[in-house]
Amino acid sequence: MNYDIKDISLAGKGKLRAEWAEREMPVLRTIKERFAKEKPLKGIKLAGCLHITAETANLAHTLVAAGADLTLCASNPLSTQDDIAAHLVESGIPIFAIKDEDAKTYYDHMAATVETGPQITMDDGADVVAMLHSEKQHLLKDVIGGMEETTTGVIRLKALHSQGKLRYPIVAVNDSQTKHMFDNRYGTGQSSLDGIIRATNMLITGKTVVTIGYGWCGKGFAMRAKGMGAHTIVCEVDPVRALEAVMDGHQVMGMNDACTIGDIFLTVTGGMKAIDKHHFDNMKDGAVVANSGHFNIEINVDSLEEMSETKRSVREFVEEYTLEDGRKIFLLAQGRLINLGAAEGHPPSVMDMSFSNQALAGEYIVENHTKLDPGVYTLPNEVDADIASIKLNAMGMSYDTLTAEQDKYLNSWETGT
Ligand code: ADE
Repeated sequence: MNYDIKDISLAGKGKLRAEWAEREMPVLRTIKERFAKEKPLKGIKLAGCLHITAETANLAHTLVAAGADLTLCASNPLSTQDDIAAHLVESGIPIFAIKDEDAKTYYDHMAATVETGPQITMDDGADVVAMLHSEKQHLLKDVIGGMEETTTGVIRLKALHSQGKLRYPIVAVNDSQTKHMFDNRYGTGQSSLDGIIRATNMLITGKTVVTIGYGWCGKGFAMRAKGMGAHTIVCEVDPVRALEAVMDGHQVMGMNDACTIGDIFLTVTGGMKAIDKHHFDNMKDGAVVANSGHFNIEINVDSLEEMSETKRSVREFVEEYTLEDGRKIFLLAQGRLINLGAAEGHPPSVMDMSFSNQALAGEYIVENHTKLDPGVYTLPNEVDADIASIKLNAMGMSYDTLTAEQDKYLNSWETGT
């Protein structure tokens, strides 16, 4: 078996961590049991580009139980958990991922994964789709469909499709309600704070925490920072979202103002240069900057490098930049995803729902690909309802059903006051 990981001797530790995560993934466990009997992905070659984490290990085992022939590479150079990569290799799954790999190794690993000639692709950020639609177009002929995990990836796919260039159908897993309402909000909320705290060991209460971008991820992060006692400021370009942030109890202002008063900054915009040179110019001494958006383009790290007299590593995942006037700015996890770089990513309980959507999307592609034109699709609403129902059940919660009379009323117009 061909693979490239850091150290196979870490496999035992990885197995224990994957088992620990599995305890909190009841929906995925239920799907795995069914998949093991029904084998819906039997013989399907699947190339995945995901963060190699304990939660991903459980998805990988589920897809293999379904009969898939799976190869995985990392979807970010800094997010790989080397013990998990070792555990997956030991359980027979080829992995191409090493934590903190350089850009060339990252793309070499992706090429090795894509060159397995997949029928289904599974992306977190659309890098595999981008590779298949550029230098590896000769491999497109075997692809029947794909899945995409994250908001940024879905945006890229829609851009590719709007240019008429997308060559196969892709399920936007991110767009399932049981994905973005939980993973993006509660997952990013907790794991980004976790990453900032692990990297800095700073007390959050009393700090001024600036969230840049108030999508689902920004909402979750600002809410959790507020819950820990921070003075929260939100910066947004969309007036409706900015208004929502005001009514959620945050202070809202432009980044040109926020940059002068924030202690900790987190970018979650999906866009570029949300923190730029003119912001660094005006930040307080000791400001901490981090990113939780998919790509490391949200913080203009190049300008910070150029502006700085010196740079040194002061803790794991903390770079200290000293500017000409003596102010220090601390950049966390190289401006890459703080939650996966400095912590372990979202906890398994939310990844349970995200990865249940991934597993079911794989089955959906196999069953429906002949009916689907190239395009970006969302799983049917019933899948969300099933996932939520199993999750509630596993949490020991119940929910109501309408009586026939209530149902009839809700589908009628005759009865008024
Ligand atoms: N994305 C965010 N958190 C993650 C995790 N724990 N595993 C895989 N992908 C993730």
